[in-house]
Amino acid sequence: MDTEPHFFETNATPGVVGQPLSRVDGWAKVTGQAKYSAEYNCLPGLVHAVLKTSDVAKGRVTGFDTSLAQKQPGVLAILTHQNLPKLAKTPNNPDDRRSFASSPMSFFPMESDQVHYAGQPVAIVVADTLEHAQYAAALLKVSIAPEAPISSYLDPKAELYVPKAIRGYQPGVTKRGDAQAAFASAPVQLTATYAHATTHHNPMEPGATTAHWEAADRLTVYDTTQGVSETQKTLSAMLGLSTEQVRVVNKFLGGGFGCKAWVWPHVVLAPLAAKAVGRPVKLVLTRPQQYTGMGLREEQEQTLRVGATKEGKLLALVHEKRSTTSPWEDWAETNGRIINMLYQCPTFEGTYRLGRANVMTPTSTRAPGDMPGSFAIECAMDDLAYQLGLDPIQVRLLNYAEKDPTNGHPWSSKSLKECYQRGAELFGWSQRNPKNGQTRNGKYLVGYGMATASYPVHSSQGNARVRLYADGRAVVQAGATDLGTGTYTIITQVAADALGLPPERVRFELGDTVLPSTQWSGGSTAAGRVSSSVYLAAQEVWQKLLKVAVMDKRSPLFGAKPADVVVQQGRLQLKADPSKGEAFGEVMKRANMGDVEGSALGRYGAGYEAPQTTANANMNKKEEAVPHSMHAFGTHFCEVQVDPDLGTVRVTRWVSVMAAGRILNPKTARSQVIGGSIFGIGAALMEQTVRDPHLARYTNADLANYHIPVNADIPEMTVEFVDEHDPYVNAMGVKGIGEISIVGVTAAVANAVFHATGRRLRSLPMTPDKVL
Ligand code: MOS
Repeated sequence: MDTEPHFFETNATPGVVGQPLSRVDGWAKVTGQAKYSAEYNCLPGLVHAVLKTSDVAKGRVTGFDTSLAQKQPGVLAILTHQNLPKLAKTPNNPDDRRSFASSPMSFFPMESDQVHYAGQPVAIVVADTLEHAQYAAALLKVSIAPEAPISSYLDPKAELYVPKAIRGYQPGVTKRGDAQAAFASAPVQLTATYAHATTHHNPMEPGATTAHWEAADRLTVYDTTQGVSETQKTLSAMLGLSTEQVRVVNKFLGGGFGCKAWVWPHVVLAPLAAKAVGRPVKLVLTRPQQYTGMGLREEQEQTLRVGATKEGKLLALVHEKRSTTSPWEDWAETNGRIINMLYQCPTFEGTYRLGRANVMTPTSTRAPGDMPGSFAIECAMDDLAYQLGLDPIQVRLLNYAEKDPTNGHPWSSKSLKECYQRGAELFGWSQRNPKNGQTRNGKYLVGYGMATASYPVHSSQGNARVRLYADGRAVVQAGATDLGTGTYTIITQVAADALGLPPERVRFELGDTVLPSTQWSGGSTAAGRVSSSVYLAAQEVWQKLLKVAVMDKRSPLFGAKPADVVVQQGRLQLKADPSKGEAFGEVMKRANMGDVEGSALGRYGAGYEAPQTTANANMNKKEEAVPHSMHAFGTHFCEVQVDPDLGTVRVTRWVSVMAAGRILNPKTARSQVIGGSIFGIGAALMEQTVRDPHLARYTNADLANYHIPVNADIPEMTVEFVDEHDPYVNAMGVKGIGEISIVGVTAAVANAVFHATGRRLRSLPMTPDKVL
């Protein structure tokens, strides 16, 4: 079938889509004009709220001594569960919970005396200045009757169970064929257990909410959220307001990584505090509160059993994951997904076992599930290669999945072979000594490792609006968010090309619920979804003008067939004879139009491939008979040098090659891949949050004691993208790269450490004590 018309062809020459445009919001950021959620300081009468949190991980609040705190200068209110304004709906009630899916926990603190986790808010102090609020909060005494907490799934008191479903939609047990039997009879059998420490997102900008009641029934919230619409829906439900009474704004975000994808307690507590004092309130989490306020990547271990033929072909994958969840939710990262789909294997069985502990509910963290899942499968493939004397790339090619093994569907596109080939070339993989522990640089042990990456193209949809003015400028709007990753820039590029305008004539506005609603920036969906809806909206704009022009006797395009006309440099002109045409502004002036507007609903991922809703020129309306499986694929190659005396591991070379559909901007895309890789190197070598096994409290909840990679830890990195046209994923052919960039990274490092030392480390992070 003819798939080409799905795919966006740039109209402008030279186009800016695909060019390494520098960030259009760069100036605003470096000059301090970019306003973050905690920087709306000119709100009238703005005051400050400070959270008082529980040191105890389990117990009941028995009382407050507010006498000293109350007397301090500037104190306006001390709110506890005894006097906090009640919520209209709370997630504590399962019936209510359905109406606000963006609440990540089915427990809301300060609705009762119950304490379920250390760091849980138990009181809020509001004062005229931050310092007054902090001082009074320090003097506020909270009495809690403690009970013995459960610290993690490893705690002997935690009873492991298999939930019916995790994250509300994935079954606790998945079976494809009889993997147990296939494993038992497999000529080659590998069994190993992989452990991951608790880790945190650590965005540079902590969670922050500024709440302003402009009237009793009109609330504006400036919040560190990855999705203004989702936050609007959840907040309005919990506060008993209608959606249009709540406006949520986020113009700039200092990183999210999944923790800002949800409405955490402080986001709701800030408007409640503002209501209580009758003034706008700013609430910013302290760095330690960030560790107990916005979720975590749960500590976990996974046992993977691999059955294979003597030639190295997979026969069975049996996976079990054990991890910590909160007292209320059946949460687990979906590790099994990638293990089930990455290679051609006739059987799979995956089981999740959870242990309830006194922690807040873990949450989405960059490539939730695929990141830790890839550690298990990609280390196991490496082990299989060594055991059979195969090259690690060869064993992956031997098991290359030409179709999605989970459902037999064809891929919408897959360029993984090209990624292996190009990655190996750039890295110099052929120089690798096949034996481990053999390569040295002076006293350092040198190792090469590689791994495969993949991330699904989740389905999502959203609206956009494009308005073109007669002076040849355009304003583009979508209520999306830019996590700092470049959304402003790539959408400006897409709109510029779609209208045939230079990018400086386009202004893209995002991050506000007054704009056309679109889903969150999460699950790597934003680039594909927003670019598609903006592209389609822009098409509508010039198609409208074209209709006016071809019917206007005064137009050089009078009588032209619409299909023969293209846009270029702000003009409509004949494809065959560019001299025949005119500027948008000419058409508009003659028709007395001050502006012309287009809007569109962009679809992304599964669900897009049978487009029925749009009448735009470049769309193919034919329905697809077979659904496609949609994934981005890629590879990481890593060189490490290990100090045999100290056990330190240094990553000395890095190559990532990704195939993720159309790359809108290679500069911001490269930054995404570098960022994800560094995040993964952090998880591989240093990141861990330590929870005290007796008190269930973090001992290193700050950036002094929680180690993340710094520049000195990271070598020059090479990133390339394989040119890939995907006609199925969305109108722009964009797959997204935010999360695939971290998938496979920990395995690439571990495989390099194995190659260097001969020691197979399966517990992250691989700190020197484990390496030695
Ligand atoms: Mo992402 S972990 O869906 O923000």
